[in-house]
Amino acid sequence: MSAVQNWRAGPGAALRGTLAIPGDKSISHRAVMLAALADGISRIDGFLEGEDTRATAAIFATLGVRIETPSSSQRIVHGVGVDGLRAPAGALDCGNSGTGMRLLAGLLAGQTFDSVLTGDASLCKRPMRRISEPLARMGARIDTAADGRPPLRIRGGQALVGSDHGLEIASAQVKSALLLAGLYAAGDTVVREPHPTRDYTERMLSAFGVDIAFSPGHARLRGGQRLVATEVSVPADFSSAAFFLIAASIVPGSELRLLQVGLNPRRTGLLAALRAMGADIHEENASVQGGEPVADLVVRHAPLRGIEVPEALVPDMIDEFPALFIAAAFANRPTVVRGAAELRVKESDRIGVMAAGLRTLGIRVDETADGATIHPGALQGGSVDSHGDHRIAMAFAVAAQVATGQVDILDVANVATSFPGFEVLARGSGFALEHR
Ligand code: S3P
Repeated sequence: MSAVQNWRAGPGAALRGTLAIPGDKSISHRAVMLAALADGISRIDGFLEGEDTRATAAIFATLGVRIETPSSSQRIVHGVGVDGLRAPAGALDCGNSGTGMRLLAGLLAGQTFDSVLTGDASLCKRPMRRISEPLARMGARIDTAADGRPPLRIRGGQALVGSDHGLEIASAQVKSALLLAGLYAAGDTVVREPHPTRDYTERMLSAFGVDIAFSPGHARLRGGQRLVATEVSVPADFSSAAFFLIAASIVPGSELRLLQVGLNPRRTGLLAALRAMGADIHEENASVQGGEPVADLVVRHAPLRGIEVPEALVPDMIDEFPALFIAAAFANRPTVVRGAAELRVKESDRIGVMAAGLRTLGIRVDETADGATIHPGALQGGSVDSHGDHRIAMAFAVAAQVATGQVDILDVANVATSFPGFEVLARGSGFALEHR
């Protein structure tokens, strides 16, 4: 894990510029995983060189997959085939990444060898029964530590059988773990979701030649299929772009252009919420890149209105609530979030940690079990703890730009898990942001 670092941020001036946001984290993880399992050599362009995705790539190297790095945003993966992974010598370290651990658990459940998945202190607090239990119904043997937490001990050599899963939680990670196990199962694996989530695993399995039927909220795949190597083009990560959408919206005089951002409808709930709040965001130069809709996002400062965030939007903006809480603090009336209990089991308890930080800076937040009401006000300087959560750290760096005093943000090293170039891009566009 990275050394602890802290930031001193804001107050700043108008933000200006044209920014290239790094590649999508969810797609980068899946690209390495499927390329490793494919027959042949796959090329990945636009790969996110963050700590989370690097951890996944390093795990596949340990499992015997040769991965070349011609440049930081490219990977050439020499696939070993679905049955070609090698037993690892020791535990596999997923770092901070829930996506890495949960998807790998599904994939490793179908191998002939045993494996152990572990991670950092934050990941080792996150719930894993949501994958170990449905995988067990397919015949997988996965032991968790106390209370369903990592490390995960996965027993190889099990004969997996396809199953029809009706999920209670809307989670792309759970869905993806089951589909990856389904590759190794006899018969069909079906996943039905309570609300549609990001479908990158389904789309990418299809791009790698797997016969999979999917529609929003539903996927079905037959076990025993092979994957064929392909080229993957990873769009810019909407979740990283989100911090600049909020920053330019709240800092007076700002105008930013974010180049060719991925706009998969299962990821862009925040765009809908911000537009309902009165944000000035335009899409230009729209196209399709690697099967994903992309466009430049041009965002200008605009006065924001408080809203009740529609619950149906929650899964489509699940990673954007730290940023949304900041927009809400600068709106004209309270913003209400409901139906978002999942936020409590992300890299940190994102309801509790955001509420604590905002309160420290003078903003009233009423917490509920599954959401919060954020009461806008003047945001003062102070010291907030990100609890090692990358998105909380970046959210407060944004808020600080319009604070009345400097904001110290503690424990920000994990920003490199998803957005290694954040500081450079932020300062280049006008953020007041330095280490301390
Ligand atoms: C992800 C799914 C979401 C999201 C995470 C990435 C993925 O998690 O929060 O950042 O890549 O599948 P859940 O499946 O736990 O909702």
